[in-house]
Amino acid sequence: MKRIPARTTVTAALPYANGPIHIGHLAGCYLPSDIYVRYLRLRNREVAFICGSDEHGMAITIKAKKEGITPQEVVDRYHHMMGDALRSFGISFDIYSRTSSAKHKEVAQAFFKNLYDKGVFEARETLQYFDPEAQQFLADRTIIGTCPKCHEEDAYGDQCEKCGSTLNPTDLIHPRSTLSGATPEMRPTTNWFLPLDTLAPKIRAYVEQHSDWKPTVYGQCKSWLDSGDGLQPRSMTRDLEWGVPVPLPEAKGKALYVWFDAPLGYITATQELFGDQWEKWWKAEDTDIVHFIGKDNIVFHCIIFPAILMEHGGYQLPAEVPANEFLNLEGRKLSTSKNWAVWLHEYLIDFPGKQDELRYALCATLPEAKDNDFTWADFQNRVNSELVAVLGNFVNRVMVLNHKYYNGTLPALPTVLQNEDKESFQAISTQTRAVEKALEAFRFRDALAEAMQLARVGNKYLADQEPWKKIKTDEVRTAEVMAVATQIVAALGLLLEPFLPFSAAKIRQMMNRPAVDWESLHQGVLLSAGHLVGEPVLLFEKMEEAQMEAQRQKLMYAAVENASNSASKVLISPEKKISPLKNEITFDQFAPLDLRVATVLNAIKVPKADKLLQLTVDTGVDTRTILSGIAEHFSPEEVIGRQVVVLANLAPRTMRGIESQGMILMAENPSTGKLEFVQPGAPLPAGATVS
Ligand code: MF3
Ligand code: ZN
Repeated sequence: MKRIPARTTVTAALPYANGPIHIGHLAGCYLPSDIYVRYLRLRNREVAFICGSDEHGMAITIKAKKEGITPQEVVDRYHHMMGDALRSFGISFDIYSRTSSAKHKEVAQAFFKNLYDKGVFEARETLQYFDPEAQQFLADRTIIGTCPKCHEEDAYGDQCEKCGSTLNPTDLIHPRSTLSGATPEMRPTTNWFLPLDTLAPKIRAYVEQHSDWKPTVYGQCKSWLDSGDGLQPRSMTRDLEWGVPVPLPEAKGKALYVWFDAPLGYITATQELFGDQWEKWWKAEDTDIVHFIGKDNIVFHCIIFPAILMEHGGYQLPAEVPANEFLNLEGRKLSTSKNWAVWLHEYLIDFPGKQDELRYALCATLPEAKDNDFTWADFQNRVNSELVAVLGNFVNRVMVLNHKYYNGTLPALPTVLQNEDKESFQAISTQTRAVEKALEAFRFRDALAEAMQLARVGNKYLADQEPWKKIKTDEVRTAEVMAVATQIVAALGLLLEPFLPFSAAKIRQMMNRPAVDWESLHQGVLLSAGHLVGEPVLLFEKMEEAQMEAQRQKLMYAAVENASNSASKVLISPEKKISPLKNEITFDQFAPLDLRVATVLNAIKVPKADKLLQLTVDTGVDTRTILSGIAEHFSPEEVIGRQVVVLANLAPRTMRGIESQGMILMAENPSTGKLEFVQPGAPLPAGATVS
């Protein structure tokens, strides 16, 4: 058995304030942390839920550069928007702070000074790339070049996104500055390194105490520790303007590394929340610190941040780091830059008041053990066949019948429970224990399924007992059945609170029992006879196919708008294998061809067909499916968003069970055989005719 701590400090990764929040953020750490915190609060455990915006780092500098505004303007724009979006989905932070505050600067600088004064850091002079035009050093994402491993031309200074390798700027072939395009030169600069190599034994001892962490988390930590070169010293300072200034006179123009300052933001926020009472939340032995994060943050929370805390001394180290994998959207990686995302602020406009529907669908598909896919079809299915058909239907029938038969006054439970009553009634405590067990182990999908199981039990009980028929023959038994069913509804109003806080509150309102008293779930009887329940309120509505289709269209159009129409380069081929001219035709033979410009809205591989892509194209007249034999030449991602020329009046043809409604015009490179799209020289509205 795990110990129950006296209090729990729960943090959710501070999101970079460089864009709005999307469902990937929510599923990664904000939803699970919120469910966990709500649960702890319901168990009357002392808990603080800490978050805020991460306002430093390259992501923000680059965004500012791109838009021609200052980094401060970028973070000011997004900080409130992000906090508001998360809170409107019920994410119940005790504080949503930010790292560009004066207070945080103080905290981060004091931490750095503490380690510096103890001689923890190694000052090292190294040669770094310097942009002579922008007059600054380049690091991480301000420098790109050819990847030494896969030869991708636009690999970043810290990572190649094509092959996934971790890189240093000096690894890049033909480095270029993303700030000016200039070729950088080498200049010496001094930075302060955290000697992770000499700290490795301590870090290893700490990590190995936590072999009970999720396998994905523990495994990643072990592979860092056990990798060939082991842990390497890592610079905690950067030659950068934007960030917390390094508090040393000799470090003018340098800022703390964002991964030094950001996790300390948790501590700053705790100080803001509790004033001089903050220390026990980080220093008391009976406190557990729990970090909810996405998998790309594991090394920072399990190795670097603990190392910083250890070297400072006096702090508890993270007890749990329940990291999630990534969520995909309609089969593709979520991407802010490609605009492939469902944005929370837009969802709220399209589905007002339906936060719980999204919380439910996301929680049911959380990427807990592996990456997972969110699709609108799955969302619709979960809402319609689970929330509406099971939970909503059960609660509604019970409420309506209570009013119809008893004007809302609850009848007494049977003095002797029949077997079916017993089974259903006992499900309240059984399912409660199952939910508790899953939540304590950070298994949120299971926990939600266990909670919903109680609604299924209730629904089945009602369907089996048929009180609407029984009322005609046996009023006494009907009253007993309704009493049992109503207890289950009342239990759902508590049990679902961590997952569906808006709907659970509605259920409790209907029950005339607005407070949440989790422990009463263990006792079983939640309402006494004669209790007056309120009016039925609608919990969930069906999601229509048209609404889902509209979301898919919106997604595709947003991504298309974002994609650039790549300019074509003329290729002069050395050895041409030009095919001979075909027989002459007349204009009248050409005229019947309906050729027009179309936009590719979506592309997927056709299962078990190596050559075929299934394209969804907007022809201006309609949206249709066309199969094209280009899968060996183009990935779906390369095709989406392109303008193409289609033969639109070609008779449909079925291949692999899919009807292809037209043909895409392709040109074949005579020397390589590679296919290329025939596309207009400038973007045109779909439907433009070609003649
Ligand atoms: N901003 C980082 C990200 O989005 C997360 C920072 S978490 C903290 O990946 F610990 F540094 F705060
Ligand atoms: Zn690469």
